[in-house]
Amino acid sequence: MLVDQLLPRDLFRNKTVFVTGGGSGINLGVAKNFAALGAHVAICGRTQEKLDAAAVELRAVAAAAGAGARVCAVAADVRDAAALEAAFARSEAELGPMDVLVSGAAGNFLAPAEKLSPNGFKTVIDIDLIGSFNASRGAFAQLQRTRGCLIYISAGMAYMPHAFQAHVGAAKAGIDMLMKNLAIEWGRWGVRANSIVPGPIEGTEGMKRLSDPAQKDRFLDAVPLRRMGTVDDIGQTAVFLASPLASYVTGCVVVCDGGQNLVGSALFNMGAEQMLRAQAKV
Ligand code: HXC
Repeated sequence: MLVDQLLPRDLFRNKTVFVTGGGSGINLGVAKNFAALGAHVAICGRTQEKLDAAAVELRAVAAAAGAGARVCAVAADVRDAAALEAAFARSEAELGPMDVLVSGAAGNFLAPAEKLSPNGFKTVIDIDLIGSFNASRGAFAQLQRTRGCLIYISAGMAYMPHAFQAHVGAAKAGIDMLMKNLAIEWGRWGVRANSIVPGPIEGTEGMKRLSDPAQKDRFLDAVPLRRMGTVDDIGQTAVFLASPLASYVTGCVVVCDGGQNLVGSALFNMGAEQMLRAQAKV
């Protein structure tokens, strides 16, 4: 269920939301929920073709919302600060200054730490953590003018160790601390910063890479709400954080995981080990 069935359809009319990594998965779901409430939406990612396909979906959502929202899809790798700045400039020219930055671009794979190359570790830090810094820094001038907000897509690995995810845990923990630092530094301009920790979200690239679909029922034993999350669950959390409902909420890590963190990562760790064993990687 898109969030427009729960909130006024024009909640974000004349607001602009930029989503890094918005071409697919959770990030596209977040972008759609903002479009459903009338926001102009910009997305970036590495592959223009993928972005163009996502833009078609976003335009359909925006048209259904009927608020005249526009969509901008521009290729930029978050590791390249100059490319991101150019993307932000184009988004501003086409859609107006940014009110919300969703920093969602991420890379992930399972790898035993002792077998992970330094470049493999660095690559995930570069995409997730340095990419989030590049995006935040590049968006600052626009967010300062709009008294906008930052939303980071973090992960449970940031505060609960998961086996074969040393690179991702380090990157996401860094993102959450970056978020808290910026909440302090940029609060004086009315800029808020928060993170969302998604739990197991159905049909995403992350789930495909990290868990075996054959183990799904067992996996659900580790989710108190006994269901997988949806991209709209995360989209609705992002909408809350960007909305006036959260105008005094900053510096928070908001966990949207069906309670999975309460149970711990042991079941995930066993499943991940089985997957790596099947690939002869452990
Ligand atoms: C070990 C690996 C590896 C693997 C890559 N590397 N895949 N090491 N196991 N499976 C190593 C490579 O050997 C190389 O090191 C280094 O990482 C860089 O690899 P490249 O392929 O050159 O990097 P690049 O083309 O930039 O691709 C980045 C990527 C890739 C992260 C490796 O998988 C990617 O583009 N992913 C984007 C999509 C994605 O991951 N989505 C899922 C996000 S989910 P050497 O030493 O050989 O040079 C997510 C949610 C987490 O983040 C939480 C969920 C609950």
